[in-house]
Order: sequence, then C-alpha cells, then structure tokens
Amino acid sequence: MSSDIFAKVQSVLDSIKEASVTNSQELETFRIKYLGSKNEIKALFGEIKNVANERKKEFGQLLNDVKKAAEDKFEQFRGEIESGDVSSGAGDLDLSAPSEPLEIGSRHPVSIILNRIIRIFERIGFAVAEEREIEDDWHNFTAMNTPADHPARDMQDTFYLKDSTSQLLRTHTSSVQARIMTSQKPPIRIIAPGRVYRNETISSRSHCQFHQVEGLYIDKDVSFADLKQTLLYFAREMYGVDTEIRLRPSFFPFTEPSAEMDVYWGLNNEDDYRITKGTGWLEILGCGMVDPKVLENCGIDPEEYSGFAFGMGIERQAMLQYKITDIRQLFENDTRFLKQFSGVM
Ligand code: DAH
Repeated sequence: MSSDIFAKVQSVLDSIKEASVTNSQELETFRIKYLGSKNEIKALFGEIKNVANERKKEFGQLLNDVKKAAEDKFEQFRGEIESGDVSSGAGDLDLSAPSEPLEIGSRHPVSIILNRIIRIFERIGFAVAEEREIEDDWHNFTAMNTPADHPARDMQDTFYLKDSTSQLLRTHTSSVQARIMTSQKPPIRIIAPGRVYRNETISSRSHCQFHQVEGLYIDKDVSFADLKQTLLYFAREMYGVDTEIRLRPSFFPFTEPSAEMDVYWGLNNEDDYRITKGTGWLEILGCGMVDPKVLENCGIDPEEYSGFAFGMGIERQAMLQYKITDIRQLFENDTRFLKQFSGVM
C-alpha cells in the first residue's frame, strides 16, 4: 500500500521536473496544478495517514521535496517568460512578419466638399467664421430683412425650440452675417460653413438638416463686378478651369440686387439631361449685393460701406460630384457607403 503512494509521489515529482511551459497561460496552468489552493501535492499530504509509521518521516521529506521542486520550477518559468526567453502568450508570434494593414478611416463626402470650398476661399483671403446653430429670431430673420409676416418664418419651415417663439434652429447660415456684422468692423471677409435645419419632409432630394457655406465681403466700394469675379474664380477652382457661369436675376430679402448662379454642367449623357432638366446649366448658389437695410440693421453705415454675400448648399454639390442619387445616404452613416471615400481628401 505505502509503496504505491511512494510511487505516486515520485511520479508527480518526475512530471514536475519534466514540465515545460512556452507561454504565460501554460505557466498559470502549472501554478494551479502544483501551487494553487487545490493543488495535487496537497492531496498527497492527505495520504500520510496511509503510510506506515516508520516511513512517515521519509514520506514527509519526499513531499517537501516535491513542493520545493514545484516552487523552484515555477520561479524558473516565470523568469524565462518575463525575460522573453519564451513567448508571453501569443503562441508562435513571428516578430519578423509584416504588420496587419491599418484600416484608414475615410472623410465624409460632405466634409470633403466643405473642406475644398474652404480652401478655395481661404486662398483669396476669406476667414472661416463658425457660429451657433441655435439662433434667435433676430439674427436669423429680422436683421436679414425678413419681416415678421414673411413665409420663411412659418412654423412649417422653421424648427422653434420647445415653448419658444424666438429661439430656433437656424434655417440658413445667413444668420452668421448678422453675428459677424454686429461684432466686427469692416473690412469683413468671411465664409461661414455649417449645418442648417428646416422642417421639411425627408425624401431622396430633401432633408431636414443640411449644410451651407455663406460668404460675406464688406468694404468700401465693393461692387457687383467683385462678386461676379469671386464667384467665377470659385466655380473654376471647384468645377474646372474652363467652367462657364451665368447669373440669373432672383430675389432674396437680404440682397439687392439678387441673383442665382448656375455653372455649365454640359449635356454629355442622359444623366446630364436629367439633372440639368435638359438645359445643361446647374444652379449652385444664391448671391447678391448686401441690402443697405441689412447693413443698417447691423450698425454698418451703408453710405460708407457696401458688400456682397452668397450662400450655397453642400449636399447638392457632394451629390453632383459623387453621383449620389439619394440625399439620405449622406446622413445614414452606413460604413459601406462611407468607405468608398477612403483616401479622398
Ligand atoms: N440664405 C439663402 C438660403 O438659404 C441663400 C443665400 C442667398 C445666401 C443669397 C446669401 C445670398 O448670402 O446673398 O436659401
């Protein structure tokens, strides 16, 4: 009986001596097996009652040797893993293997177009002005010469804040014109990119939130010719050096005279016919000379200063450039859609 137990202890001792570990997980397994709270050696101590009295001392000695061997082995393994002699958990990690390619994020198409527009205007001295999206009635409408009974103020179009008749989500970036003119002295030369909101039914062509870039230039003797030249420069930078533009008379409460600018898109294929309604021309923006009443509202003397302003939508330009047919794709953040713009700056 007791020789069986001696043999058992001996075999545990042998397996400890022969043990090897290659990573920290195996080290932990070793620790649990021989040094953990329910380790195999402890169980062997329990066997001492079955050993003949005259061999109890010898048995105890042997068990202590086993325990010591387990402790020594554990320390040895731990040292090896910490010093990196054996790998630390990655199994067969190959340090010479090429690294996994990093997934590079992509810019949102709206940001791509916005950044291009900003760079184009920065080159001719326009600073970027960013302003609040929650506006008051005065900056969004009144200062911009849009009287209280103007249909644009309609509850149907404008998101007012809860329980408020004067706090709203700006309906256009033209509100930034009022913010800047009341806080800076001319000369003023800014563009104001940002998000705007309108209470519109969401469809493939319109959304309740979108982006605009506003432009404002106020100085002495600013003329319509300056406006036209600035817009021609923009169109050619944005759409190609040979791009033709045309200005059509229009109406906006904050400009007089007002115009809309079209760029010549061409009629090269069926798509062109569809998106230009068969004319070849595409409307890109609204513009005009800042109405003297707007200058006055904002504390700038219209006798001394004049200026031009323009405002353009971003989504439409992104859709044109990237042949996107549904505006909702720009707001859904579907990574399968967005990944297509990877690498486009
Ligand atoms: N605020 C106008 C809109 O949202 C766009 C616009 C037209 C802005 C003419 C201007 C401008 O600054 O001069 O439809």
